[in-house]
Amino acid sequence: MASLTLLVNGSEHKVEVPPSEPLLYILRNHLDLTGTKYGCGEGQCGACTVLLDGRPVRSCRTPAQSAAGKRIETIESLSANGELHPLQRAFLEEEAFQCGYCTPGMIMSGVALLASKPRPSDEDIFQHMNGNICRCGAYQRIVAAIHRAAGEGAKS
Ligand code: FES
Ligand code: FES
Repeated sequence: MASLTLLVNGSEHKVEVPPSEPLLYILRNHLDLTGTKYGCGEGQCGACTVLLDGRPVRSCRTPAQSAAGKRIETIESLSANGELHPLQRAFLEEEAFQCGYCTPGMIMSGVALLASKPRPSDEDIFQHMNGNICRCGAYQRIVAAIHRAAGEGAKS
């Protein structure tokens, strides 16, 4: 077992876990942050995307040990004082989901994109979101939501 201190959504959490335990399991099973989803478990679908020092990573393939000392942000970090993040609002306004299972991962990837490129082109969005799969096929509306949030100046 390893004793880790993880900085998640601005708060420190101490956990005792096997060293190779994926970050996703710790978020969901130890910290009760169930917004981050388990999809494929193989780094292929993006449902488990969180930000590590601002960069999107697949938390199902990220050993928790490698996240220690870094800033971990999950979907739960985005709304503040009862207000949704502009990209969350844009997803609602564009109805950019059906079942919603891919949505937290999509939004975390989108947040990282807008932080690095505040006015992305379609091509930028296709490239950046390439690893996030939506089985409901809401891609067009997801792209529209990212453009809408970009128009409102969403960055973080
Ligand atoms: S669950 Fe992590 S990429 Fe699919
Ligand atoms: S909304 Fe169902 S998988 Fe994307």
